[in-house]
Amino acid sequence: MSAAIQLQNIERRFRQGGRTLEVLTGASLTLQAGEVVGLLGQSGSGKSTLLQIAGLLEKPDAGEVVIEGAAAGRLSDNERTRLRRRRLGFVYQFHYLLPEFSAEENVMLPLRIAQADKDEARQKAGGLLDRLGLADRLSHRPMQLSGGEQQRVAIARALANGPSILLADEPTGNLDEATAERVLNVFLELAQEQRVAAIVATHNTDLAKRMDRVVLLKDGQLHAE
Ligand SMILES: Nc1ncnc2c1ncn2[C@@H]1O[C@H](COP(=O)(O)OP(=O)(O)OP(=O)(O)O)[C@@H](O)[C@H]1O
Ligand SMILES: [Mg+2]
Repeated sequence: MSAAIQLQNIERRFRQGGRTLEVLTGASLTLQAGEVVGLLGQSGSGKSTLLQIAGLLEKPDAGEVVIEGAAAGRLSDNERTRLRRRRLGFVYQFHYLLPEFSAEENVMLPLRIAQADKDEARQKAGGLLDRLGLADRLSHRPMQLSGGEQQRVAIARALANGPSILLADEPTGNLDEATAERVLNVFLELAQEQRVAAIVATHNTDLAKRMDRVVLLKDGQLHAE
């Protein structure tokens, strides 16, 4: 069986003001289904850049992202978008919940985009939010939720489509320790249940150690910790 996701010698550089910034210089990583990997690295080391590329939101300058055996570089833009919607979930570093929509509607959105019918989407969103301890916050808008609650809505939204791969960029950043711990526990539980392969970028080494393994991004490459 193919790996859930493979990053093969990913390179990414940014040209800025006549200089070239080499951010990724051959980053490689393979995750099997259900495997959760913690991604550590100093601020500016390229974690978010790597996750954007793994999530097919950006293209690498060299190297390949292989999702369940399919090389993303060989796909058309449409095929890549479809693959992203069907198989990938994303929790952003600065979560982009839509302010005008309730918690429930935010989680329903990816399901509706994937053509799920409204009742089915509502039921699924409600179920996930319930699992994340937000059953009585369904109609709250993001502004009416605490930071930790917003993070949990973002996690529910990322899991809504039943992705096989989840890319999480500091999903518990800006949370106090106890809340971060709680949010991470639910996250790991759901990931295990749904056999989601997850890459979780974090600055918190203690949280990273709770994952199946940890990799360190340094000088543009990934090293086993
Ligand atoms: N679009 C861009 N244009 C130019 N430089 C960029 C761009 N995106 C990222 N960079 C640079 O690439 C480097 C890596 O950025 P990235 O956001 O991936 O780091 P990070 O490891 O996620 O950091 P943090 O832990 O602070 O979130 C940074 O030095 C950043 O300035
Ligand atoms: Mg980042």
